Amino acid sequence: MTKYRIAWMPGDGIGVDVMEAARIVLDALELDAEYVPADIGWEFWCREGNPLPQRTIDILQTCTCGLFGAITSKPKDEAALELAPELQGKGLTYSSPIVGLRQLFDLYTNLRPCKAYPGNPLNYRDDIDLVVFRENTEGLYSGVEFHPLPGELRTIMTKYNPRMTRFEDIPGDEISVSLRVITMRGARRIIKKAFEYARQYGYPTVTLVEKPNVLRETSGMMTRVARTVAKNFPQIELWETNIDAQMMWLLKNPDDYGVIVTSNMFGDIVSDLSAQLVGGLGFASSGNIGDDFAVFEPTHGSAPKYAGQYKANPTAMLLAVKLMLNWLGETEMAEALETAIAKVIAEGKVRTYDMGGDSSTLEVAHAIVEKL
Ligand code: NAI
Ligand code: MG
Repeated sequence: MTKYRIAWMPGDGIGVDVMEAARIVLDALELDAEYVPADIGWEFWCREGNPLPQRTIDILQTCTCGLFGAITSKPKDEAALELAPELQGKGLTYSSPIVGLRQLFDLYTNLRPCKAYPGNPLNYRDDIDLVVFRENTEGLYSGVEFHPLPGELRTIMTKYNPRMTRFEDIPGDEISVSLRVITMRGARRIIKKAFEYARQYGYPTVTLVEKPNVLRETSGMMTRVARTVAKNFPQIELWETNIDAQMMWLLKNPDDYGVIVTSNMFGDIVSDLSAQLVGGLGFASSGNIGDDFAVFEPTHGSAPKYAGQYKANPTAMLLAVKLMLNWLGETEMAEALETAIAKVIAEGKVRTYDMGGDSSTLEVAHAIVEKL
């Protein structure tokens, strides 16, 4: 028996290429793990009408955690057209398997570290080291949406805000509503994780990014909870900023920030901007983490035009492997891997196209292995 069982989900496009790189590195590290292949992605949507088959969920339930490459997804109508002929017209609708995984396994933390490794020509600044904690299961992405506007909802909205009468003459099919749901439990657990991380890795501040002056109830709850949680971490300072101003400050003084915590959509935005500050998609890794299960992935998609060409930068994937190793408690291996990645970046000899080089995905992996 191996110590760990890791669900192996390459998915589509360059997901397959970068997962091959991950395997080269994991084998070199000699992690005591069994890698269990699991089907996910476009191929399974087309063939079976489900991009996240039940057998994959069954495998995940027997695993310590999962590693995921990337998937292709397409708009509703296009997705329906690519279904196998025998599945067409059955009312099957496509939904993102990675969003599905987050919900099914309650992976409420989306952890997105953004560190500028010295020597990366794509760095916006060289001293950036920030980590975004994005709430992954609720907020504006809770999936409670209305169109056309039901009459009873209009009545309730007007009851709670008399100024809603200004929409009185607009017909229901010309109004759409998405609900921003924040629960105290959701707020507390993501903010607590952010503070725990700051304490564990020595970050002096946690910045809560919200908009409580306008979103009084939802951002207001995030703020109240953050202040309560912060009391248990006297050594860490809580900063509170507004999402709009934070976008300016991230560009102006990115090195001021350590751990950033925020709700789902704001986190989506902050983390993409932060990723670009340290080299963009080729460097952005993320962990989807719950209480006892997690799935680690590069943030990028399947980049179909590069599929199977081994051109993609595997760094994002390998940094996701590093996150996984940390989560497993294999901190020495995680550090060794990060050091090796940093050395290859600093040397600048083996670089994929996005960094101005012409090395392949696997050449980068082998260069990192040499430094281990
Ligand atoms: P993408 O992230 O796949 O690629 C956008 C562009 O970024 C690529 O064309 C390439 O120029 C560059 N890029 C991405 N990863 C790179 C890497 N590792 N190294 C070097 N360059 C890299 O996003 P796009 O083109 O919007 O979406 C393609 C497909 O991926 C779509 O079907 C989309 O739905 C899906 N997608 C999946 C995600 C996931 O699996 N988590 C996330 C984002 C998109
Ligand atoms: Mg995003």
